[in-house]
Amino acid sequence: MTGHFAARAATYDRSSSWCTDSDLAEVVLATTSPRPTDRVLDVACGTGLVSRVFRGRTAEVVGVDITEEMAEQARAHVDRLVISPAESMPFEDASFDIVVCRQGVQFMNLPDAVEEMVRVTRPGGKVVLVHLCAYGPADRDEYFEILRLRNPVRRHFFLPTDLEDLVRKAGCDAVTTRRYVSVEDVDVWSDNGAIEEERREAIREVYRNASPRFRSLHAVRESDGRFTDHMLFVVVTGHKA
Ligand SMILES: C[S@@+](CC[C@H](N)C(=O)[O-])C[C@H]1O[C@@H](n2cnc3c(N)ncnc32)[C@H](O)[C@@H]1O
Repeated sequence: MTGHFAARAATYDRSSSWCTDSDLAEVVLATTSPRPTDRVLDVACGTGLVSRVFRGRTAEVVGVDITEEMAEQARAHVDRLVISPAESMPFEDASFDIVVCRQGVQFMNLPDAVEEMVRVTRPGGKVVLVHLCAYGPADRDEYFEILRLRNPVRRHFFLPTDLEDLVRKAGCDAVTTRRYVSVEDVDVWSDNGAIEEERREAIREVYRNASPRFRSLHAVRESDGRFTDHMLFVVVTGHKA
């Protein structure tokens, strides 16, 4: 896990268009409505791209990540940086008003990590998972295969309802989901700095052979052998009961 992200650290911010997508950031802000007094925890903060969205809008932003090479880049964008697994974080119960995790839970022990996020959230506070998902059963198998090829250390693959269930079962209610579609050039997205050309070619092959249903749901476009995929993000927000 940490080896994979150490290899990706230098080029991570350019590895997907969603990384620095300000429209996706706006969806996260609209969902969380941060107040100037809020304490925010960015779980699996990576290089601090989500922390930057909250910094300056809230009283404190704390970043936590397991990979030092990624997290060092976040240092300038957080008030405090902690190297720790998300499954066991060194924070008191109810320490934060907003706990956000983007593209992190796919790598974690579940449901432990989400239960830990809820533990450190104050009652009434928000737990927010921002994650790529399959649209539904019709594209699940092909999309999960593409995601597996792109990231060999990934452990979990989600439909939107899986993330809603995780948040609800960990102790949140009033769970809401917003959707956001990110347009990715597959050749750029697959060039993540940590997989071989063989795997990138295998990803192209899945797109070449994709079913009509997958092509339609993902609005796949092909030009000169390059594919564009409309990937689904969900922003699932629960309020700690
Ligand atoms: C795809 S990056 C997402 C980074 C950032 N949240 C973003 O949206 O740009 C995944 C991050 O999860 C971290 N990670 C993976 N497993 C973790 C765990 N068990 N605890 C904490 N961080 C973890 C990795 O080190 C990596 O920085």
